[in-house]
Formats: sequence, structure tokens, C-alpha cells
Amino acid sequence: MQVRNRVAIVTGGASGIGRALCLALADRNAAVVVSDVDGPGAAAVAAEISGRGKRAVAVPADVSSEPDVRALVARAEQELGPIDLVCSNAGIIVAGGIDVPDEAWSRIWAINVQSHIYLARAVLPGMLARGAGYLVLTASAAGLLTQLGSAPYAVTKHAAVALAEWLSISYGDQGIGVSCLCPQAVATNLGATSQRELGALAAPGADTGAVPSAAGNGSVSRQASVDGVLTADQVAASVLAAVENEQFLVLPHPEVATYERRRAEDRDRWLAGMRRLQARLTGRS
Ligand SMILES: NC(=O)c1ccc[n+]([C@@H]2O[C@H](COP(=O)([O-])OP(=O)(O)OC[C@H]3O[C@@H](n4cnc5c(N)ncnc54)[C@H](O)[C@@H]3O)[C@@H](O)[C@H]2O)c1
Repeated sequence: MQVRNRVAIVTGGASGIGRALCLALADRNAAVVVSDVDGPGAAAVAAEISGRGKRAVAVPADVSSEPDVRALVARAEQELGPIDLVCSNAGIIVAGGIDVPDEAWSRIWAINVQSHIYLARAVLPGMLARGAGYLVLTASAAGLLTQLGSAPYAVTKHAAVALAEWLSISYGDQGIGVSCLCPQAVATNLGATSQRELGALAAPGADTGAVPSAAGNGSVSRQASVDGVLTADQVAASVLAAVENEQFLVLPHPEVATYERRRAEDRDRWLAGMRRLQARLTGRS
């Protein structure tokens, strides 16, 4: 789908990859609904876009709340017309394993998985009636591989990839395009915004695309630079190229395709390799 002159919603639009997506879409003359639980942050991005002479509105919404998501879509349609493209991008990370408290598991599940379902429920009827529309789900390389040091992130991002595949299979022949964004490390505020969303429930950690990070410090760990830390602008450019080529998997770090192939070819070998990597990175070997 060509994005020029389209109407797009971006969740998590106040910061990082979402903000970069908003700016890149506006550069192509798309009208952008900048949505985020951080209302002032979303308003600042919308103001930046308006300052460039492009169309944008800020609509605060917590993507873990279905009423918020329904209100977001209704307001977006009222302000800008039928929605062509949705970038369901907001997400958080929680450090830890099976010891993570249930409340934190529920929070990350709601933000990293249910949000995509709520958005799809809200926009798909209109898109199907028009016979056209596009959904971009932000998952992570952790959704194709794993996230050492964060079971909740690995599990919820795998679920996001599964949902994106299911949406593509179910609606791809009815004019609905789907892409799934799976980067490794990107320089963003993910640690800090996750901490804000989690409060006292748990520590955030950082998405480094399969390798562990220093939990709670909000920064991308040194291990993440194995395949390079991308900028949010680079990732946004990859997403728009994928949408325009109607390509499902968006891999801003191309190495991920090789890792995924190796994992599929020999799961036991891949698991043994991940155990060795984990031991090396945590100083247990
Ligand atoms: N940074 C990385 O290394 C990396 C790698 C792979 C995937 N991702 C994914 O990219 C997406 C964007 O994250 P980012 O790295 O740009 O981080 P970021 O913190 O810079 O941006 C995330 C945005 O989501 C918003 N958000 C959080 N919870 C929300 C909620 N409940 N409702 C609405 N908005 C909410 C935050 O306020 C923030 O503005 C996430 O889904 C993340 O998992 C990040």
C-alpha cells in the first residue's frame, strides 16, 4: 500500500519507534493520529508535524483498555476520515522469568498482545467493508527467537507474531495487508517508559533482541551491539518500505532471518547455542 496521502494511526507515538513512524508518515503526506498513554508527549509530536505544515492530531489512549482504543479509533475517524493504516506499536518490557508477579505478567500481556486485538477489532470492520486497509504490528526479534532475561517479553512478542500471522492468513485475501516489525536493539526510551507503566510491579529491562540486558537501567546493553543498535528513524524507514512492498516480516536487522532459519532447522542445536550465549553473558561459563 502506498502511504502517501493516507490516514494512519500510530500507538506509542510519543516516543522512539512510534514517534519516528509518525514523522516518516507525515513526510509522505499521510495524515497522522499520534496516540500514546503519554498525552503531552503525543501532543508534542503532533505539534512538531503540524509545524512542518502536515496534518496530525494527538489522541491520548491506553492501549491496554478496549474502551480507550475504541474511543481512539472513533475520534481518529471523526477528525481525519476512514483509517487506512494502523501501526499498533506501543509496548513494554519486564525483566525476569517465572518469578515475575502475575500483575506484571497481566500488564505486559495487555499492552503487548491485547492492544493489537483491540485495535484490529476496532478498525477491521471498516477496512473490510472498504476492501482495503493495512495493519503493522510491532513485535520484536524476541518474538521470532527469544529474549534472554525476560520470559514475559519473549512470550508476549511470540504471541504478537502469531497474531500478525493469523491476521494476514485470515484477511489477506480480503484486501487487508499485514506487516510484523521484528527488530533487535533500537535506541529508544523503552526502559524508562516500561518502568512508568509498571510502577512498583516489576523492573523493566531492555529489548536487545534475544540477548540479555542490564535489567532496570533503561539503556540498551553493550551486548546488544552484537548486531548493531539502530536508530528509530532507520526502523521507521524499514517499516514504510515493507508497507509499500506489502511484505509481512520487517527485519531492520537482517541477521535475524539467519537466526530464525537456524532455529527452525535444528531447534535443539539452537537451544544449546542460546544456553551457551546466556552462560557467557551472565558470567556463568
Ligand atoms: N527499543 C528496542 O530495542 C525494541 C526492539 C524491538 C521491539 N521494540 C518494540 O518497539 C515498540 C516501541 O517501543 P520503543 O522501543 O520505541 O520504546 P519507547 O519507550 O521509546 O516508546 C514506546 C511508547 O509506547 C508508549 N506506551 C507504553 N505503554 C502504553 C500504553 N499502555 N498505552 C499507550 N501507549 C503506551 C510509551 O508511552 C512510549 O511513548 C514496543 O512494542 C517495543 O517492544 C523495541
